[in-house]
Amino acid sequence: MTAAPNQDFDRAAAAPVWTVRVLTLFPDMFPGPLGHSLAGKALQSGIWALETVDIRDFARDKHRSVDDTPFGGGPGMVIRADVLAAALDDERRGRTLYLSPRGPVLDQARVRGLAAEERLSLICGRFEGIDERVLEARGIEEVSLGDFVLSGGEPAAIALIDAVVRLLPGVIGDPSGLADESFEAGLLEYPQYTRPQIWEGREVPAVLLSGHHGNIGSWRRTKAEELTRVRRPDLWARHAAQKKTRTR
Ligand SMILES: C[S@@+](CC[C@H](N)C(=O)[O-])C[C@H]1O[C@@H](n2cnc3c(N)ncnc32)[C@H](O)[C@@H]1O
Repeated sequence: MTAAPNQDFDRAAAAPVWTVRVLTLFPDMFPGPLGHSLAGKALQSGIWALETVDIRDFARDKHRSVDDTPFGGGPGMVIRADVLAAALDDERRGRTLYLSPRGPVLDQARVRGLAAEERLSLICGRFEGIDERVLEARGIEEVSLGDFVLSGGEPAAIALIDAVVRLLPGVIGDPSGLADESFEAGLLEYPQYTRPQIWEGREVPAVLLSGHHGNIGSWRRTKAEELTRVRRPDLWARHAAQKKTRTR
């Protein structure tokens, strides 16, 4: 499925549209959540384009089978290399990733790299996964959403696309807000507050009401550092090491 570009929007002339092709056994899961809110508006505006490929359309028998039992025995089924390769080779695919718990875990740096691609293909596995040979033969990268097992790659693909789309130019009204977000500067974000000023007896930190931008900036920085140090010692160690290198 490719979203119809909005006639009012002249982006196509300005820059290539970020296009993602999703190979799945459940194409009806898309755009799903990606059809709503920021990502949905950007899809309608033609800032990005979504194509879905039903892997089953490339089955070779009358039963439209896509999977078979694993060589060596064991439970479950495996998606066949020949069927998936036919789906992959059908069109230009660009950089291709298989959503898989065995891959390196997706992080903001990787998301930024994917946002810089013009065209991406994402393979959503099911069952016990896919035949290893197709990964090798087509030079496919693996990427994981985290150290847990989903029943299919589709929710992971949706999360990855959402993370990329919000970085595309024109998607977020005020992109300066992105710079402060968690992981952008290697830190978690500082706490946020809004009205009412007092809620259940809890007050907003006074500095945020002071109108003093310098003080607000240093309070936020301190809070971001504190949170990162306590909650994510791994990020904090990396951040501290980078800071040390910069000040040398
Ligand atoms: C039930 S899982 C297969 C798990 C596989 N047998 C294993 O143990 O590594 C089915 C599919 O879900 C997707 N999946 C599961 N966990 C994932 C994760 N953490 N990140 C990305 N995709 C995942 C993959 O596409 C996978 O092929």
